[in-house]
Amino acid sequence: CGIVAYVGHREAAPLILKGLKRLEYRGYDSAGIALLNGALNVYKKKGKVKDLEETIAHETLQSTIGIGHTRWATHGEPNDRNAHPHYSASKNLAIIHNGIIENYSSIKKNLMKKGHEFHSDTDSEVFVHFVEDIQINAGCTLEEAVRLAMKEVVGAYAIVVMDATNPTQLIAARKGSPLVIGVGEGEFFFASDATPIIEYTHEMIYLNDYEIAVVRDGELTVKNIDNALQSPYIQTVELELEAIEKGGYEHFMLKEIFEQPRSVADCLRGRVNADNGHLVLGGLREYTDKLAKAKRIVIVACGTSWHAGLVAEYLFEELARINVEVEYASEFRYRNPIIKEGDFVIAISQSGETADTLAAIELAKSKGATIIGVCNVVGSSIPRATHAGAYTHAGPEIGVASTKAFTAQVIVLTQMAIAIARKKGSLHEDTFRRLLFELERIPQKIETVLQSDGKIKEIAEKFKDARNFIYLGRGYNFPVALEGALKLKEISYIHAEGYPAAEMKHGPIALIDAEMPVVFIATKDSSYDKVVSNIQEVKARKGQVIAIVTEGDKLIPTMADYVVEIPAMHEALIPLVSVIPLQLLSYHIAVMRGCNVDQPRNLAKSVTVE
Ligand code: G6P
Repeated sequence: CGIVAYVGHREAAPLILKGLKRLEYRGYDSAGIALLNGALNVYKKKGKVKDLEETIAHETLQSTIGIGHTRWATHGEPNDRNAHPHYSASKNLAIIHNGIIENYSSIKKNLMKKGHEFHSDTDSEVFVHFVEDIQINAGCTLEEAVRLAMKEVVGAYAIVVMDATNPTQLIAARKGSPLVIGVGEGEFFFASDATPIIEYTHEMIYLNDYEIAVVRDGELTVKNIDNALQSPYIQTVELELEAIEKGGYEHFMLKEIFEQPRSVADCLRGRVNADNGHLVLGGLREYTDKLAKAKRIVIVACGTSWHAGLVAEYLFEELARINVEVEYASEFRYRNPIIKEGDFVIAISQSGETADTLAAIELAKSKGATIIGVCNVVGSSIPRATHAGAYTHAGPEIGVASTKAFTAQVIVLTQMAIAIARKKGSLHEDTFRRLLFELERIPQKIETVLQSDGKIKEIAEKFKDARNFIYLGRGYNFPVALEGALKLKEISYIHAEGYPAAEMKHGPIALIDAEMPVVFIATKDSSYDKVVSNIQEVKARKGQVIAIVTEGDKLIPTMADYVVEIPAMHEALIPLVSVIPLQLLSYHIAVMRGCNVDQPRNLAKSVTVE
């Protein structure tokens, strides 16, 4: 979910609605806003922020204070009733909440015994009733009641509470879900990330867990859960407005796919220089030695970031000869994993907020592991929970399906693997130099592949009505096959499976008939000959083959139905480029099927619930 709140001298409603649109990547099944104009008025609607905007177009929305929310349903189906903000029993308080209150049902039972009536199925409504109940019973201030409630509730939250009896006041609190406060001239902005705030101020405070921020009469105070005054660190956030706008592209996803030559170059800048053999990841300087001595590295991540982790497994094992295990963060954390002191855990996350990844980090930390982060969003929760790390510098990624964040993650992990291998002495000087040289040329190679967009669109046209897809690759291209399949299902709702090409004959081959499109990532690398055999196996069963091949390949075009070429490069770097045509293929198919590419159904970009 995404939250936005404002108190100051501007009209709150348009500002909040605009901010919510920027946060829609966090969830978009319903939206709502609460304003204070005489009384506390709440407007909410199932659907997108735009639906809410249409519903309230004729309302008088004047107010210089307000809170707003865009939802990704956890408790209760997405409908008007369950949309936020939620009222307290007296209707004097309204709350917006991102996260989950785990013990909400026992709190709800107690409140119901006391006569509270609830109008939604959400945990968030319970929270605001609970706060008001405490306030009345303890006869305390709202701020104190929020603090006491925080001591009782279990779970993760970022909340903002507005009070009809105190029209210059907003109270916010955080535990586990992100909350940024923008500090303007006599005005304050609250949001789940910096994007709704950046056009008004660059001065921001990232609230820490168990902190409560109170703005009253234009003054901000931050306290911790034990009521001790905190001195918040105001930082200047360097984020440009253009970076969060579409810039002429039809969709954010397309813009982000086409941004990859630049985002990859940004990720290499200052870190790699092939001319003088320079390779330094500033944030890992003190850890490269230790990593080179590591017996074992565990990678934890979810979704696309997990796929980047799989690529890293091949890289670290081949180049640095270190044993790597790649884990779904959600499985790792509930399995009583064997982690010993001296183990390294690499956590990969675009958003830096994924709840399962964060919990996996805390668990590994408690068992004595050293945690390295590979994240995109600067200042997010995961980089703050790690011992060291490297940012991916891909810039804001707004499309829910991850594209440029993936290539940036793989670039960082490749640099890490090379740096560690070099330190360890497991990489020959010539290979080291060659890898750096080739890394510097990756943006150019991605640029070349992007020029095949028209051709890929034609292929998409042929397969847009397919009901299933299989993606196959071997070695470094196996994770790419998984990522290609994930992209397609996420945005076009076509069922797709990724497999190691050789595994096909152990089951998936039964699916192949003349209707089945099979995407092979069949580049010239050490498994080329084997993949050629796999293509023949598919063709023998009349499957439709779309092959991603290396420029100049003469053989595969004689077998495959459709071919997209990518430039030749060192095997270890291929995923950075071979994934690009798959991103474009899924994009065009989704557009042709009339799907909402940037906001696919049921998904959210940042999953801050477990
Ligand atoms: C969500 C997104 C995916 C993403 C995954 C992990 O499911 O829809 O695109 O890969 O979370 O997110 P993270 O921010 O940790 O990389």
